[in-house]
Amino acid sequence: MQTDSNLILEKTIKFVKQTLAGAEAGHDWFHIDRVYKTALTINQLEKGDPLVVSLAALLHDIADAKFNNGDEEIGPFKAGEFMKSLDLNQEIIRHVQEIIRNLSYKSSLGTITFQSAELDIVQDADRLDAIGAIGIARAFTYGGYKNRILYDPEIKPVLEMTKEEYKNTQAPTINHFYEKLLRLKDLMKTQTGKTLAEKRHNFMLTYLEEFYQEWEGKA
Ligand code: ADP
Ligand code: NI
Repeated sequence: MQTDSNLILEKTIKFVKQTLAGAEAGHDWFHIDRVYKTALTINQLEKGDPLVVSLAALLHDIADAKFNNGDEEIGPFKAGEFMKSLDLNQEIIRHVQEIIRNLSYKSSLGTITFQSAELDIVQDADRLDAIGAIGIARAFTYGGYKNRILYDPEIKPVLEMTKEEYKNTQAPTINHFYEKLLRLKDLMKTQTGKTLAEKRHNFMLTYLEEFYQEWEGKA
């Protein structure tokens, strides 16, 4: 990338750090920084547009619908306003906005409305941050924030619950591994994403084995 791009990224990093000051640990600046670095690692092989990959990684979590009354457009809108202030060309702005719009786990479960190599790269990087050692740390941080218990052998897996049971249960954090974290490996799109996910996935399996053994006082 030329100097021009470097300056754009410098300004973007500054903006994102400011915007996320005081954010909760799961989505703070360090989450963005990890996703950014991982996206660039993946891009070494994929050869997507480095500026689009970088901007999308940096701007993907500046406004989460969860904390904005479920408004799914707030993220792409805020990112768009910022990019306009940098005089980026319209095509890049639109592409980055589409990536942000389509990035979330939820939107990936619905109909696919947009596809690009750069979306695959940033999505893999974001999902990789939810698994492995970091993913485990984030899950328990989230669980603590929600005041969830670690594990309860009496509570059956969420996927086996009826809607009614689910509503009345405060699911332990360990359940989240089965609901989401252990499924992410098979959703990877890029070659590097698949390789990294395999390693992180196996680490989580080892972790869970240890967890259950320690739970029973056996290790
Ligand atoms: P993302 O930003 O990847 O779309 P979320 O906002 O859903 O993910 O979650 C942020 C972090 O909190 C992730 O690491 C995720 O695994 C974790 N998390 C989300 N929901 C739960 C849950 N019910 N229990 C434990 N961890 C969770
Ligand atoms: Ni994210």
